[in-house]
Amino acid sequence: MADIIMNPDILPRDIVELLIEAKKVSVNAYNKYSKFFVGAAVKTTSGKIYTGTLLENASYGLSICAEAAAIMNANSNGDYNIEIIAIVGGYNEDPEQQPVTPCGRCRQIIYEASQVIGKNIIIYCSNLDLSKVRITSIDDLLPYAFHLNE
Ligand code: THU
Repeated sequence: MADIIMNPDILPRDIVELLIEAKKVSVNAYNKYSKFFVGAAVKTTSGKIYTGTLLENASYGLSICAEAAAIMNANSNGDYNIEIIAIVGGYNEDPEQQPVTPCGRCRQIIYEASQVIGKNIIIYCSNLDLSKVRITSIDDLLPYAFHLNE
């Protein structure tokens, strides 16, 4: 799958809706230390959307990223067949806003979800003002991912 940045004006309506859900919750980020806002929304095969927001901690390494929170939300609701993920993030009032991409730990968490559904997961990464969207997938973001042969 190509890794491209596109203008959100030409994205399908359901993808824009997913990005808007991620954007909505990004304002709730508990980002006391970084001041970086991130929200995520995942869509499952049931058509439902689950959101998650960044939760930081004074012990920095314990912070929970927005996409991990959204995936946990889907799983908590017994709906762990994730097909699409939207991530929206950035600093407020950043004139050079670029799409945020998932950290290494989250890539491994998304990879596990792709094993559950048995398919590549498409990931829409956006900046905070939804002006630039990078379209990618977990197979592109994490080649040769770690997995157990069971
Ligand atoms: N962060 C996320 O929640 N998701 C991402 O995709 C990238 C980074 C968080 C981690 C950290 O608390 C803050 O954003 C700044 O890096």
